[in-house]
Amino acid sequence: MRNIQFYQEAFVAYLHDFKFDKEPASLYDPVSYILGLGGKRLRPVLTLMTAELFDCDYQKALNAALSVEVFHNFSLIHDDIMDNAPLRRGKETVHEKWDLNTGILSGDAMLIMAYQLFEGYDAEVFQKLAKVFSKTALEVCEGQQYDIDFETKDDVFIAEYLKMIEQKTAVLVGAAMQMGAIVAGASLEDQHKIYEFGKNLGIAFQLQDDYLDAFGDPKTFGKQVGGDIIENKKTILYLKALELSAGDHKMELQHLFSITPNDHSDKIETAKQIFISSGAATAAQNEIKNFSDKAFLILDDLSVEANRKEILKQFGEQLMNRVV
Ligand code: IPE
Ligand code: IPE
Ligand code: MG
Ligand code: MG
Ligand code: MG
Repeated sequence: MRNIQFYQEAFVAYLHDFKFDKEPASLYDPVSYILGLGGKRLRPVLTLMTAELFDCDYQKALNAALSVEVFHNFSLIHDDIMDNAPLRRGKETVHEKWDLNTGILSGDAMLIMAYQLFEGYDAEVFQKLAKVFSKTALEVCEGQQYDIDFETKDDVFIAEYLKMIEQKTAVLVGAAMQMGAIVAGASLEDQHKIYEFGKNLGIAFQLQDDYLDAFGDPKTFGKQVGGDIIENKKTILYLKALELSAGDHKMELQHLFSITPNDHSDKIETAKQIFISSGAATAAQNEIKNFSDKAFLILDDLSVEANRKEILKQFGEQLMNRVV
């Protein structure tokens, strides 16, 4: 296996050579735009690394990796519409730069393209990839729906929240790795273990995304800091703060997350102060650590050479220290 940067560069080179710009430009320009905005490319890199983990040349997994990244970017276009988000990777979101209809249809086209990328695999691998992919994509829709439903639901339990982030985010990280394992012809048992590793890493990743949404640095984060607070998202920070607060403080927080003021800067400041003073910010950090530790334990149990697992562990650790 090579180092993480190698897989990142190999993926980006493959993406750049791939032609997304067809006619009509109004349909395909946003596709090139969002895919060209960069991002961490963590899911495709995991697909490539997993293929090599199970003794397969990463090049065979490039189309599966691209499929995962195209699907992820499709989900971001639609997610930004649903979350009223102005910024993505430090640039205008697709529906802001163009309009709502463009975001909807270019997103739809990307979902189809993601499937099309499986066509290069033989029938057996194609079927296995499509099966994991369809199951995962539906789960992402379910998670996204819960995320939206929770904005206006005032009694969300932490267990429900964890299930929601598992569906909207973590299963795709797991699937990205399972797809690398499928291309490599790994056993079902290994496929499932690597899926569970990715899923737990994915939960830690989304918990951290929720933390950074409030406490990230606007210069590096690339998204509107405080966006989840504006949208009344019931994230780990909010739920832990509720759990740790009593009486008036609890009522204040519940009220704060039921209103939509025109000027939201006060709301964001107040919410962040409560997140810190209640101990919710620290509690969220602890949860991130719990889930990444759980992921690493699963990795220990995998029957491949220790030095091959090391690079995945390194990748996970880097992800937990991210600012983007
Ligand atoms: C953003 O994913 C959506 C979440 C699941 C939090 P990433 O943080 O992986 O986004 P990019 O691709 O690196 O921009
Ligand atoms: C995104 O969750 C999950 C999917 C895109 C499916 P978020 O709404 O938290 O992602 P960001 O913060 O906009 O990247
Ligand atoms: Mg969002
Ligand atoms: Mg969202
Ligand atoms: Mg987020």
